[in-house]
Amino acid sequence: MAETFDILFKGGTAVNHTGEAAVDIGVRDGRVRAIGEIDASRADQTVDARGLHILPGVIDTQVHFREPGMEHKEDLETGSRAAVLGGVTAVFEMPNTSPPTTSEEALAAKVAAGTNRMHCDFAFFVGATRENAADLAELERLPGAAGVKIFAGSSTGDLLVEDDETLTQVFSTIRRRCSIHSELESRLRERLPIRRVGDPTSHYEWRDEVAALESTQRLLRLAQATGARIHILHVSTGAEMELLSHHKDVATVEVTPQHLTLVGPEDYERLGTKIQQNPPIRDLAHQDLLWWGLQQGVVDILGSDHAPHTLAEKAATYPATPSGMPGVQTLVPIMLDHVNAGRLTLARFVDLTSAGAQRLFGTTCKGRIAVGYDADFTVVDLKAERVIEDSWVASKAGWTPFAGRKVQGWPIGTVIRGHLAMWEGELGVARGQAVRFDEGFPQGGTH
Ligand code: DOR
Repeated sequence: MAETFDILFKGGTAVNHTGEAAVDIGVRDGRVRAIGEIDASRADQTVDARGLHILPGVIDTQVHFREPGMEHKEDLETGSRAAVLGGVTAVFEMPNTSPPTTSEEALAAKVAAGTNRMHCDFAFFVGATRENAADLAELERLPGAAGVKIFAGSSTGDLLVEDDETLTQVFSTIRRRCSIHSELESRLRERLPIRRVGDPTSHYEWRDEVAALESTQRLLRLAQATGARIHILHVSTGAEMELLSHHKDVATVEVTPQHLTLVGPEDYERLGTKIQQNPPIRDLAHQDLLWWGLQQGVVDILGSDHAPHTLAEKAATYPATPSGMPGVQTLVPIMLDHVNAGRLTLARFVDLTSAGAQRLFGTTCKGRIAVGYDADFTVVDLKAERVIEDSWVASKAGWTPFAGRKVQGWPIGTVIRGHLAMWEGELGVARGQAVRFDEGFPQGGTH
């Protein structure tokens, strides 16, 4: 008897390991079961995907959703709502909440809070501290853990590991790739007086390229000495990109859509503290080298660093303003616009947003459109032209630095384990589950 399906995506152009092809995709029990020509009579439900591209589900491996502790900025429900409205099927959330995600209990509480409440699938990073360093090998493998995150330079929250001794201990203890915010804390402290009251352009003079470069040099050295694998988050300087191109054996590289799209000083003049973030948006010379790294394959992954703060908080006078901007909902449209402008291919976009996450973090059954994999798809209309508006933003922050920007390329559907989490702007039922990892403990148990 011919195989039957719960849901069939018919007539779309799928982008996967075979390239780009017009194929139907049959899904049963949340998994892809067949790719090819499939008759609609074999499915309970058929989704007409003609004119649309079906991409492997976009995994945003760097978001801050603020729950627990700062729910006035965001919570797991609103952040994940923004994610699926923007075509994102899974997020990896950062540990700088209050309390921070530094223990088994804090991690389990986030997993419980997200399950069937978040609209997308999820994993949570465990924050490294001097106190939990010895336990990280266990913590990083718990259900729902994306791995270990180190703030080597301080940003929002109190998480910080700045001494060589603790960094070495963390690197020697863990087995999974370690994600790191790389800015040299001692230099940031020394240079605090460089900040000019009321002038957010001084943010990138204060947190300068030397602070980023010297930090990344040090992390590479410590990783080489200990045999650790590291992931440098939101690389913002040309010098780091050049350096990292020589150390692909040790380090992987993330860039954000905002570092690829916004530029100093003109966007600071236009948007002020809204685009204040760590590490900072810098000038065109740096941005050109980030694009060089992306085009040459040095960059492994895109993350939005979705870091919502309210407009009231951003309206204070610099430097009393918080760093970070929302981004999970705009990652797909901003980058598809770059695809349409010829700055990267659609295949490279897929490589950076799904295959990259699987390669770096070892997601189990996520990251490809393949039989046996979770049916996670980001369905896009590459021709659609839309203007990004604040009113579209589902984040509690309620704004985006890209408001008013006309883009070509738009997320039409977000399919998670075969369910329509979003279709043409309408939300489905929230069914978020923890992402599984090849290096994690088997689901359901810790040992
Ligand atoms: O600008 C930033 N904001 N950079 C970070 O690394 C943290 C983030 C936040 O949590 O607000």
